[in-house]
Amino acid sequence: MSGQKKVKIMFEEMNQKIGSYGVVPVVVLNDTKDALPLAKALVEGGLAVAEVTFRTAAAEESIRIMAEAYPEMLVGAGTVLTVEQVDRAVNAGAKFIVSPGFDPEIVDYCISKNIPVYPGTVTPSEVAQAVKRGLTVCKFFPAENYGGLSTIKALAAPYTMVKFMPTGGVNLKNLRAYLESDKIAACGGTWMVKGDMIKAGQFDEIKKITADAAAMVKEIRG
Ligand code: 3PG
Repeated sequence: MSGQKKVKIMFEEMNQKIGSYGVVPVVVLNDTKDALPLAKALVEGGLAVAEVTFRTAAAEESIRIMAEAYPEMLVGAGTVLTVEQVDRAVNAGAKFIVSPGFDPEIVDYCISKNIPVYPGTVTPSEVAQAVKRGLTVCKFFPAENYGGLSTIKALAAPYTMVKFMPTGGVNLKNLRAYLESDKIAACGGTWMVKGDMIKAGQFDEIKKITADAAAMVKEIRG
């Protein structure tokens, strides 16, 4: 099998997995001690998936803790801004990489290593760069600032092969509208895993909000 074909299969499998969750909690952890209870809350809430952002020093170790404790959980890394962070994330157990913008160096590096990557694209030129490389799912960030679902539909009109993962301003209020569109692979966001809830140790509350999001996915997508 050609290398390119292998990459395609790998990426399609990950797209399907992420699509089957429908919602990806975007996690910002300041303290690695919260990684385990948070992973437990997400798994028990019905969303065994997380994008752990490299915005904090605790990210890399938190990915490791989550991935080791819950091998069935789909743990990815977000806010990945350098290829060095790609390596650190993957070595820690991250199964996919998310970047806020389209950085060709990061995208090409991930493709060369068979690591599913979801770069941010909000303009036709950025989507074109992704399509050129064979990507079929792109992050759309910051979603609500860039026109939300209506912009996604406009972008998807010429780029029929692409689905989007909106994050930034997505919450339980607008989640339904996003999920009802066939142009949405999954929605990302922090509304289930807010920093103040994590700080206060409100993992039962996190589990409940997560379960609400999972239930909405099930209701809409079956
Ligand atoms: C991201 O990194 O995807 C966003 O910061 C998440 O945005 P939100 O806090 O509005 O959900």
